[in-house]
Amino acid sequence: MGGFSFSGNLTKKPPQEQEGTVTHRIGIIGGDGIGPEVVAEALKVIDATGVAYEAVPFDLGDGELAEIRTLDAALLGAVGTPDVPPGVLERGLLLRLRFELDLYINLRPFQAGPSALNDGVDCVVVRENTEGVYAGEGGFLRKGTPNEVATQGSVNTRLGVERCVRFAFELARSRERRHVTLVHKTNVLTFAGDLWQRTFEEVAGEYADVTTAYHHVDAACIHLVQDPGRYDVIVTDNLFGDILTDLGGAVSGGIGRAASANLNPARTGPSLFEPVHGSAPDIAGTGHADPRAAIISGAMLLDFLGETEAAARVEKAVAASDDVGGTTSEIGDHIAERV
Ligand code: IPM
Ligand code: MN
Repeated sequence: MGGFSFSGNLTKKPPQEQEGTVTHRIGIIGGDGIGPEVVAEALKVIDATGVAYEAVPFDLGDGELAEIRTLDAALLGAVGTPDVPPGVLERGLLLRLRFELDLYINLRPFQAGPSALNDGVDCVVVRENTEGVYAGEGGFLRKGTPNEVATQGSVNTRLGVERCVRFAFELARSRERRHVTLVHKTNVLTFAGDLWQRTFEEVAGEYADVTTAYHHVDAACIHLVQDPGRYDVIVTDNLFGDILTDLGGAVSGGIGRAASANLNPARTGPSLFEPVHGSAPDIAGTGHADPRAAIISGAMLLDFLGETEAAARVEKAVAASDDVGGTTSEIGDHIAERV
């Protein structure tokens, strides 16, 4: 998570802790593929911090939304087994949680030292998490006929864009460089891009202490690989953010280390923490999955719950594990021992 902390005006404050400890209620959704294995390691590490919590397990596909709403946070492994047609689990479980719990920010931090690719990465992507093409607008006409039509619209609301852009500026304010880059494709997506750009410029006017830039998403893919030092905070729409953050993982130590937080900053319900990676069914059960992304997601969860000291210890232990190899559970053991 790279020194990330939910400080400043970023989110509503966690509930006041009375006399030291509160027991957090954390939903555990292992998912499928490597999901359950990496979540087990994240829990091992959270246990090692000594933070008091109650784990509330949920099965894949359970429609227990009402129950999930009562939790303080949830940790999810991954969904997407090839046994189920594409989209069923994604829309039915993960996207449903993001939409129904109004987790409108998907926060994905990237940090890495200099590599063969570049001089090092230290940026955070603020991905809009409830709109765009993910909203599910569209449909078929004459399906299955030679005259078939399929549309998939991008939904962008002023409210959705503005709350996301504001979060990015608040985040930039809490960071040393205080810089926000809007990433979009305004030269082609002239309606959605226009709304994003106008909103971005208006909000920027309220943050004189934050500098700004705009990059087209295709160009951003080049810079993120060759010159990521250009980026501090990136704010972007749902689909661009999805793609850009896989690239972000690939250029900063691998997707096995990329963590994310699906946030409801107003804390009107639980936030959801998950690795950026998918369920990788090809390596499920082999012990080859890197649990670090899930462990760092767990640290972000702790930080969000106000357990900042425990979160920092986990972060430090992960950072010190850079050269540690072994199986999924050996890496988890190593990190847990050092927490
Ligand atoms: C991610 C994933 C999801 C997404 C899938 C599993 C629906 O790729 O969290 O980045 O596209 O958002
Ligand atoms: Mn993705």
